[in-house]
Amino acid sequence: MSTGAVTEDGRARVLADGKRIPLLGLGVWQVPSGPECVNAVRWALELGYRHIDTAQAYGNEESVGQGLRESGVPRGEVFLTTKFYPARKDPVAEVERSLQRLGVDYVDLYIIHWPQGGPTWAWPGMERARELGYARSIGISNFGVAELERLLGTATVPAVVNQVQFSSYEYRKALLRACQRAGVALEAYSPLGTGRHLGSETVGRIARRHGRTPAQVLLRWCIERHIPVIPKSTHRERIAENAQVFDFTLSDRDLEELDALDRTGGTDRALERKWWR
Ligand SMILES: NC(=O)c1ccc[n+]([C@@H]2O[C@H](COP(=O)([O-])OP(=O)(O)OC[C@H]3O[C@@H](n4cnc5c(N)ncnc54)[C@H](OP(=O)(O)O)[C@@H]3O)[C@@H](O)[C@H]2O)c1
Repeated sequence: MSTGAVTEDGRARVLADGKRIPLLGLGVWQVPSGPECVNAVRWALELGYRHIDTAQAYGNEESVGQGLRESGVPRGEVFLTTKFYPARKDPVAEVERSLQRLGVDYVDLYIIHWPQGGPTWAWPGMERARELGYARSIGISNFGVAELERLLGTATVPAVVNQVQFSSYEYRKALLRACQRAGVALEAYSPLGTGRHLGSETVGRIARRHGRTPAQVLLRWCIERHIPVIPKSTHRERIAENAQVFDFTLSDRDLEELDALDRTGGTDRALERKWWR
């Protein structure tokens, strides 16, 4: 199966390194470590999710690992992402700590959380983490086109994922195209606008047309484009709702209306404002 292709069941995508990333994952940013996080991860896995997205900066890797074990789902069936916290120096030392906290031997995807200090310095350490078997795939997050190009100009092993803020309201078309050209899978974070897009009139109208919920419409908009998407919820019924996105399709008219919500002007940037120096 070729790069960028979706698997036969329509639920995963093939990355440039041949690994498969499930299109739907659970995000756990702002979920405190402890029962809330353990339950969210366990519920998601019980409900059929096979992809969990955490980060060193989230402070909840222990709970993610606990939820994974409590779910009873075999480790090998779950795609686990963590992110290198770039205020630290050494991606290898930090992923070793992540693996200990998560209680696993490897992560499926290890990404630089944001390009603090420039887009290239941490990459040799990321490549080393992969070589050592700590990460099956390596990638980046919050990299715009300029940063992506600089990284790909120096990398020995290319990044296979760029996780960015992406939704119909943040439809970074030029960034998406550049990622596609470079063989990098763009992954959508904050697909519900951290909840802000759920009250949208347009999204609500399209949801009613399909007998669906606004969250399902926003998520389906990504799935239609084969973009992996990682909504966050700590409520069991919402985690279940967000997984019901493989049994309906959006029409061309729906997609046009949703595309028109973009407020970034189709930018090639990953963010409108950086939170690091
Ligand atoms: N790489 C990065 O720099 C970066 C940055 C931001 C996010 N991310 C990743 O992307 C994930 C998702 O982004 P996000 O956390 O910003 O938010 P999001 O998934 O866009 O939205 C989550 C918010 O929507 C609510 N929600 C979820 N499903 C819902 C539903 N079906 N109905 C009504 N409300 C619903 C959640 O509330 P409840 O939890 O109360 O249900 C929460 O307030 C993060 O968790 C993280 O893994 C990565």
